[in-house]
Amino acid sequence: MTTIYWFSGTGNSLAMAREIAGTLDDVRLVPIASLGPAPVAVGGDFGVVCPVYFEGLPLIVREFLERIDASRCPYAFLVVTVGGFSGWAAEEGRNLLRRAGKELDAAFAVKMPDNYIAGLDMPKAAARDRLHARASLHAARMARDVAARTRRRGTSWGIPFGWLAYATLGRVFAHSCRGRDTRFVVTDACTRCGACARVCPVRNIELVDGRPRWHHRCEQCLACIHWCPVAAIQIRGRPTAKRGRYHHPDVSLEDIASQRG
Ligand SMILES: Cc1cc2nc3c(=O)[nH]c(=O)nc-3n(C[C@H](O)[C@H](O)[C@H](O)COP(=O)(O)O)c2cc1C
Ligand code: SF4
Ligand code: SF4
Repeated sequence: MTTIYWFSGTGNSLAMAREIAGTLDDVRLVPIASLGPAPVAVGGDFGVVCPVYFEGLPLIVREFLERIDASRCPYAFLVVTVGGFSGWAAEEGRNLLRRAGKELDAAFAVKMPDNYIAGLDMPKAAARDRLHARASLHAARMARDVAARTRRRGTSWGIPFGWLAYATLGRVFAHSCRGRDTRFVVTDACTRCGACARVCPVRNIELVDGRPRWHHRCEQCLACIHWCPVAAIQIRGRPTAKRGRYHHPDVSLEDIASQRG
């Protein structure tokens, strides 16, 4: 049995997890957001599929890897979906897993549409389609490697003393991540539909008079911003009103909403 633990805000990582799972025998998909804070004993082969945030792993994924016991796993792999560059993510996963009693056997990074709307606009339809098509081919190759239990280091330092830069960036992100929702604002376009609260993987959004209020437990997945059907959520100081919204075409709002169990 292979267990694939996944985390996703706009569906790229879930789509990859599903594509890999679809080609393996005896596999189950487990959303990381559905697991409580208790330690997890991981058995059998296992993988983690998630996005890269600020050149490292999302905080929720780091914390999951910090509380697992993987010492009895024969094979472990990590797949990160990235907008451009996977930075420190593979090394971070390797280090955390080592502490959990297991060497990371294979690490993969797959390029997909970049959902970081605070920094850039979403790709146009043609570019998006090309990225999705290439990612599907990549998923098929990754699945073959996983089925064959291939070993693959998948490191990417990129820059001199990269580990130092990435470790620093990771610390800064970890420190600020949960409170970064203070920059989110909701405009009068809000129809009080409640979708933002439903998609939040960590129940960080309360609806007050039907409009979102954030509670500073944010993972920065940006699901609330991208899944709002009328693009009513903006980031203060960033031109997000002029930018497009994105989610993977094969993933629904319900798929994301159901990840928290
Ligand atoms: C807060 C945040 C930070 C990000 N940082 C990076 C990054 O450092 N490098 C990168 O290549 N992509 C970065 N991205 C883009 C995502 O990793 C990428 O779009 C990913 O496929 C999204 O996965 P999801 O759809 O499963 O949520 C970032 C996205 C977010 C929301
Ligand atoms: S998803 Fe958008 S429209 Fe719906 S309640 Fe949230 S902010 Fe308002
Ligand atoms: S508040 Fe928005 S960005 Fe933060 S974790 Fe919830 S859905 Fe993701």
